[in-house]
Amino acid sequence: MTKIELTNNIYWVGVIDWNIRDFHGYTTKRGTTYNAYLIVDKKTALIDTVKYSFSNELIEKISEIVNLEKIDYIVSNHVEMDHSSSLPEIIKYARNAEIVATQRGKDGLIKHYGVDLNVKTVKTGDELKLGKRTLRFIEAPMLHWPDSMFTYVVEDGILMPNDAFGQHLASSQRFDDEVDESILMEEATKYYANILMPFASLIIRKIQELTKMRIPINMIAPSHGIIWRSNPSKIVKAYLDWSRGIQKNKVVIVYDTMWGSTDKMARAIAEGVAKHGVNVKFFNLRDSDTSEIVAEILDAKAVIVGSPTLNNSMFPSVSAFLTYITGLKPKGKIWAFFGSYGWGGGAVKKMVEIARNAGFEIYEPTLEVKYVPTEDELESCFKFGEEIAEKYVQTG
Ligand code: FEO
Repeated sequence: MTKIELTNNIYWVGVIDWNIRDFHGYTTKRGTTYNAYLIVDKKTALIDTVKYSFSNELIEKISEIVNLEKIDYIVSNHVEMDHSSSLPEIIKYARNAEIVATQRGKDGLIKHYGVDLNVKTVKTGDELKLGKRTLRFIEAPMLHWPDSMFTYVVEDGILMPNDAFGQHLASSQRFDDEVDESILMEEATKYYANILMPFASLIIRKIQELTKMRIPINMIAPSHGIIWRSNPSKIVKAYLDWSRGIQKNKVVIVYDTMWGSTDKMARAIAEGVAKHGVNVKFFNLRDSDTSEIVAEILDAKAVIVGSPTLNNSMFPSVSAFLTYITGLKPKGKIWAFFGSYGWGGGAVKKMVEIARNAGFEIYEPTLEVKYVPTEDELESCFKFGEEIAEKYVQTG
């Protein structure tokens, strides 16, 4: 197999998971990769491992470069099993290796894989001399787990930040200058929105911390997807923009429908919004992928959610959507709610309750229609959309 070098003696030894389409609920229509890196020097270090089902492939890749017994350190930047679950298999061969992790990483690894692991703990600023090369560690708690850590290769300016700056994108190419930039950014956006959005303020602080360290970042080698080598600052800027809540003149409409009434309302609202030149993204939850909806919500100014009433509450699909999106804690948006009902109603009230409890800013009044919307009621839906566009999007 062709050996892939980031630079002299720093190898990509990751694996490509072409077929995965569901990554713990996140839809991965383009698959993913689990990136691991091997640094060969006087001492040899493996940075992260891969998902357990690919452990043989990882072992083969490393074996083509060095005998696994030569591995001195296995750096575990993150305990989550897509990066650590080959560890038990690797240490059967890499018998002399010391595992390197944060204290929380050590605790997590022991809880996952047993108490016999040989783990050395490190903190921000600690360094490990490999020979010509030095690894410096930077703790990154809650980016996105408490144990998370970045590893920086000092002499080459290569940052290995594990999940941060990654994308779920299976590809035979490894570097940003080799792939379609729009697909790369689409997947990076979706990744940030679904994995990192709740940690926006921590991301800003971490990037500021890196800036203060005055360390050159010539390459960012994340643990999923493509390596940023031609322009690593592009993804850092994108993370800053997303974390600071920079938005587009965009409204996302998300709904489900029972007999078509909520659908008619949604379409009329969309027309009202669009009349003002605002970009509308329109999703019927029945046919849409929630992970992609979330990516659109990331930089939208307003989100309009609709549901018919079912048993005095909202549709289960809408409930699931709200559970997911409130957990991601999107900030700085206006949230509007609408729906249809047959007799008692209840969907809109429940949706507003969930949004209020999540601390979302809610547009009032809400909009409800009994049974099937009349022409007048559709006109009200149109105006509802217009007003949201005028008040919150165009001028925002
Ligand atoms: Fe890619 Fe948090 O694991």
